[in-house]
Amino acid sequence: MAELRVPLIAGNWKMNLDHLQSIAFVQKLAWALKDAGYQEKQVEVAVFPPFTDLRSVQTLIGADDLPLALGGQDLSVHDDGAHTGDVSGVFLKALDCRYVIVGHSERRSDHHESDDVVAGKALAAVRNGLVPIVCVGETAEDLEQFGPSKVPLDQLAVVLDQLKSSDDYVVAYEPVWAIGSGQAATPDQAETVARALRAAIQDKHGADAAARTRILYGGSVKSGNIAGFMKRENVDGALVGGASLDVAEFSAIVRFPAHVTMDS
Ligand code: PGA
Repeated sequence: MAELRVPLIAGNWKMNLDHLQSIAFVQKLAWALKDAGYQEKQVEVAVFPPFTDLRSVQTLIGADDLPLALGGQDLSVHDDGAHTGDVSGVFLKALDCRYVIVGHSERRSDHHESDDVVAGKALAAVRNGLVPIVCVGETAEDLEQFGPSKVPLDQLAVVLDQLKSSDDYVVAYEPVWAIGSGQAATPDQAETVARALRAAIQDKHGADAAARTRILYGGSVKSGNIAGFMKRENVDGALVGGASLDVAEFSAIVRFPAHVTMDS
């Protein structure tokens, strides 16, 4: 984590919590963060509820002025029209979403999303004033065959080709073998790939983009391992799945600066 990049802790709820549960959850999360003395300037926190919850969570954040950013878990490459079941970036923006996840490995596998589709989604996000969180990561087989960085770099290259150097985007390195497995990458592994991803951003979009773009690690992040990742120079936050559904655990992850200072 470098000083000039505000760390981002992003909670990807996946297909969990309906709109009523989401309200109760966000209220509890807001209390827990307040109790913990959470400071927005130090760490940015974003939640990614299912689409059906977005309006409820938006209303709650707005009414209580909660220090939480909102994001969608996916969006369409199109802005409107005959695309049954898809959700437009225009609609996400209208619900005050700041972020949208694109290319999550579960989208890539469940919906056969190619790198080109992911790039189209990143472009649709930027076109609509949303910041895409572009997920890249290798499977266990890829890791064995190609080593740690090749697949994430290849996936990112297709997206970077479509974006401009002035665009605001976030990259999330999520090894598929670490997602939901309880077996996180080591901080060294995450740093190696994050450093390679930042170098690719520098090659394509220049030094300024490389210096300001946040690169997250995702895959079995917990309160017990977050500090190790955040101590590394090129890791600027986390995309958290399972642990984002537990208020105590997620707010402890957000409080990582306390652990980083204590341990270092
Ligand atoms: P996990 O999921 O934290 O449950 O491993 C991370 C993700 O899929 O974004």
